[in-house]
Amino acid sequence: MTRGLVTAAIAAILIGEAAHSEENVPNLRDPTVIAAGHDLFLAKQCAHCHGVDGTGGINLARRSLEAKGVFQSIADGREKSGLRMPAWREVLSDEEIWQATAYVLSISQHSK
Ligand code: HEC
Repeated sequence: MTRGLVTAAIAAILIGEAAHSEENVPNLRDPTVIAAGHDLFLAKQCAHCHGVDGTGGINLARRSLEAKGVFQSIADGREKSGLRMPAWREVLSDEEIWQATAYVLSISQHSK
């Protein structure tokens, strides 16, 4: 499953994608944006490492997160203590990354 994802990521990188921008940030508190982010979280295997609701595996809840930083982490990938998250900017559109960001923010630091 993860291998397929990585292959898809590499394929996307090889194909090359248009430059992404960080404009058109959606309303990150809009429930429909958050719901779309949750769907994506399940569909794109985020849940594989982070748990279905972000609280399993590599826990994303109870963190003090800021929107731009979350977007950056998802877009560029992240490494900590030898664990690595792949970059997603070639796999997800900016809009999708913002949706995932909205969802992550909704479960972190009780920012509701
Ligand atoms: C292969 C496992 C894996 C997958 C799949 C994965 N992540 Fe991660 N993620 C990690 C690791 C490892 C870290 C870095 C360790 C940490 O921050 O605790 C991380 C960190 C993060 C952070 C860091 C937040 C911060 O700045 O502290 C966010 C947000 C995140 N992931 C969201 C996602 C989203 C959204 C997806 C799906 C599009 C996803 N992850 C898929 C492993 C994964």
